[in-house]
Amino acid sequence: MNTKQLGKSNVKVSDQIFGCWAIGGTYFTGAEDEKSIAAIREAVDHGITSLDTAYIYGNGHSEQIVGQAVKGYDREKLTIITKLWKTWMAKDLVETACDQSLKALDMDYIDVYFIHYPSDTGVPIADTMEALMKLKEKGKIRCIGVSNFSKDQLMEACKYGQIDVIQPCYSLVWRFLDLEEMDYCIQNQIGIISYCTLAQGILTGKFNKDTRFSKEDGRSRAPLFQSPYFEGALDVVDRLRPFAQKYDVTLAQLSIRWVMQKEGITAPIVGAKSPAQVQDNRKASSFVLSDSDFAAIDEISKAFAYQLPRFKTFFTAK
Ligand SMILES: NC(=O)c1ccc[n+]([C@@H]2O[C@H](COP(=O)([O-])OP(=O)(O)OC[C@H]3O[C@@H](n4cnc5c(N)ncnc54)[C@H](OP(=O)(O)O)[C@@H]3O)[C@@H](O)[C@H]2O)c1
Repeated sequence: MNTKQLGKSNVKVSDQIFGCWAIGGTYFTGAEDEKSIAAIREAVDHGITSLDTAYIYGNGHSEQIVGQAVKGYDREKLTIITKLWKTWMAKDLVETACDQSLKALDMDYIDVYFIHYPSDTGVPIADTMEALMKLKEKGKIRCIGVSNFSKDQLMEACKYGQIDVIQPCYSLVWRFLDLEEMDYCIQNQIGIISYCTLAQGILTGKFNKDTRFSKEDGRSRAPLFQSPYFEGALDVVDRLRPFAQKYDVTLAQLSIRWVMQKEGITAPIVGAKSPAQVQDNRKASSFVLSDSDFAAIDEISKAFAYQLPRFKTFFTAK
């Protein structure tokens, strides 16, 4: 698997990143720790050596599972990405939050530490960045990223320290990143690792219009899983099927591959709950879409994604 550099930092990520939200046991249902550990090892053993987690994914549970799964692996070959939650953004709380994540991970440094969301309680970004820059000087983190920031919020954060990577939502059915942040990042050498690459399973082709989620599964409330957007996204999936057939790949592999080839994207983050899902997804690294097929898929994607209302996040409509 190829590795790519994040922004101007010396941190490298694998061309796909394993997403560890589901294994934290929140939002998605049905995660089992043993299976999660096996899934992470399946990923790392096959070159997906970058793991994206966050303290909020089960209040440290996802980080603990990551720590357990990679025991015995060469730490220097791994890229560990985790995130600072909103309630810990005040200057005097950032280091405590970082220490808490390090403890859960059972590690002594984090490769990429993200601000998970912009503050919704008015904490000045200058304060959070000042504290993060100190963590960098101390060697507790290697580089800083911001997630779910608008272009203006990103530009503001950049005034107070080096931002090497952003983490937005991006897939064939979710493309608000194209509006502003994508070009800014390309022009300013800021990496992009994007999430919900499979639209939480929609782009694997395993759902149909009768699919229903339990109340406990966050997808039951996510905008793209509601009518008429769900049917529209499923229609995109149907239009992708001939391309999957042509390349003899699964829809998951095709959808991941397209994001991997999109200019500006450093690497997509792909969540998985089992070794079997990892085995499927990792094969996206083993083929290349032709320019004309890439462009044809782009058109199918835009026809749907560019007419979506501007939802607040993938998970909340307002
Ligand atoms: N920064 C942020 O605010 C933010 C937000 C969201 C996510 N993220 C990161 O991005 C990662 C990826 O996003 P995500 O996990 O929400 O969504 P995703 O990668 O689009 O979808 C992951 C889910 O799809 C299903 N799946 C995966 N591979 C499959 C396959 N080959 N066949 C069938 N089903 C498959 C699994 O759920 P089921 O088996 O239950 O269907 C899995 O949990 C997260 O884990 C997290 O690390 C970050």
